[in-house]
Amino acid sequence: MKTPNTIYHNATVTRERRNQLNGHKSVVIWFTGLSGSGKSTLAHSVEEKLHNLGCRTYVLDGDNVRHGLSSNLTFSDNDRKENIRRIGEVAKLMTEAGVIIIAAFISPFKKDRNMVRNLMPHGDFIEIYCNASLEICEKRDVKGLYKKARKGEISSFTGVSSPYETPKNPDLVVHTGSLTLDESVDMVMDMLVDRGVIDNEN
Ligand code: ADX
Repeated sequence: MKTPNTIYHNATVTRERRNQLNGHKSVVIWFTGLSGSGKSTLAHSVEEKLHNLGCRTYVLDGDNVRHGLSSNLTFSDNDRKENIRRIGEVAKLMTEAGVIIIAAFISPFKKDRNMVRNLMPHGDFIEIYCNASLEICEKRDVKGLYKKARKGEISSFTGVSSPYETPKNPDLVVHTGSLTLDESVDMVMDMLVDRGVIDNEN
């Protein structure tokens, strides 16, 4: 910490009171996986479902955040770490504000994902691995980035010239390479009910 002479002020409107008002818990649903594995699509579909159930939600998405909050960062290992640290802190604040955060970031490094997990109270960070193989993601190549990476036009591209560390113990694995979007959304929604984040889907 570079600002030691700062004193934390406690709110009287607490997270618990916000959660009670909203009728659901606030957590971070964190999607990790290769570029093109379907993180953002799944994140927005889950948000749509939750919103229709009356939940307070917000999607934090890699590509979008890199246009603003993280626009001064590259894809070096260190900058990815800083990217994930910033998102983690924002996500933490927003859970305190009572919002269900749905985060979609490649977040290739185990250490960085664990850093975010450790930022928040136990159980608040739900790690979901969007498991689609490199072959499938590269074949889809929705944004044409794998092609560019193979040609050497993009450096440090995850899966091609930069590593992706597969989560060993994620809270949920969704096989986004083979499941339909609806099946994937249902898996996530079921887990949120199981964990008591939302009451039920009806
Ligand atoms: S992370 O590694 O720091 O978590 P993040 O999720 O924010 O990555 O951004 C990933 C998105 O940036 C990809 O979906 C892709 O569209 C774009 N991108 C541009 N360059 C790269 C690169 N070198 N590696 C990975 N993704 C890249």
